[in-house]
Amino acid sequence: MPPRPILITGASGQLGHALAARAPAAGLPARAIGRPGFDFDAPETIARALAAADPALVVNAAAWTAVDAAETSADAAFRANRDGPATLATLCRSRGIPLIHVSTDYVFDGTKGAPYTETDPIAPLGVYGHSKAAGEEAILAAGADAIILRTAWVFSATGKNFARTMIAAARRLPALRVVADQRGTPTAAEDLADAILAIAARILAEGWQPGFAGIFHATSAGDTSWHGFATEILALAARHGTPHPDIIPIATADWPTPARRPADSRLDTTKLSQTFALALPHWKDATARIVPAILAQDETP
Ligand SMILES: NC(=O)c1ccc[n+]([C@@H]2O[C@H](COP(=O)([O-])OP(=O)(O)OC[C@H]3O[C@@H](n4cnc5c(N)ncnc54)[C@H](OP(=O)(O)O)[C@@H]3O)[C@@H](O)[C@H]2O)c1
Repeated sequence: MPPRPILITGASGQLGHALAARAPAAGLPARAIGRPGFDFDAPETIARALAAADPALVVNAAAWTAVDAAETSADAAFRANRDGPATLATLCRSRGIPLIHVSTDYVFDGTKGAPYTETDPIAPLGVYGHSKAAGEEAILAAGADAIILRTAWVFSATGKNFARTMIAAARRLPALRVVADQRGTPTAAEDLADAILAIAARILAEGWQPGFAGIFHATSAGDTSWHGFATEILALAARHGTPHPDIIPIATADWPTPARRPADSRLDTTKLSQTFALALPHWKDATARIVPAILAQDETP
């Protein structure tokens, strides 16, 4: 009999795509699914997808990720970020399989002034953060063997993200105004995927250990502001011929958005390295890989 696969949800997203692409190199048979076959808005699809795949482990990369739109679509955000993951965790528990779920730095309010640890109190500022926090709580309450990885500022060569937006804007505009007073860590979907796959491989090889359960912080190394991130992205893009605009630092107050965001959401990743001996590469190394990949993709007819 072939080995049971890991099941990856949210196949069309940045992380889901990276997980599916990199699972073979990690030696893991994988099945990636997305909507409509796996849809948190149609909860009956969750059990059906699990029954069809009969996985050895589930990685949930499906989520409502539109931070501003969540402010006016709270029901849908909570369905995708709390109710669906709760159902998934309950099903994983009844099937006796582990669940790796992904959460966010936006569960914090950003006022600590130092990197957050997993035991720091959460205090989300917006609907998205509240819905993700509720998802964490629901998964832990479901009693499955669950690992929740909080990450931040996800970007990759595929999908909608800040790096792609900056490159597109640089082609159109002579000057970009970018928020300089929010601090965090851009995290490459590919690097997060590799960490998740390493954890999955270890669980499948060694079996579940009680010390694996719970919340872990998992971001790239280092930190910056959105302005610092834009500066790095556009310096790299300029080397490949993209026009280089002026990048003007502005305050959050000068760029009003429907959702409030934490001013400093750096995450302390010590627990991840101590438990799993894993550390993601620096965000600048990831940016140096991903910007040329975005540009190359844009050139593909
Ligand atoms: N992006 C960030 O900056 C960021 C920051 C911190 C944490 N995270 C977390 O990291 C994880 C991965 O994020 P990402 O950047 O890969 O997200 P993404 O690119 O926006 O992808 C989200 C995925 O979820 C799917 N999805 C959305 N609503 C769904 C629903 N109701 N039912 C089933 N699937 C649904 C989407 O499918 P469709 O293509 O069909 O819409 C897509 O495949 C998420 O848990 C997110 O909360 C992300």
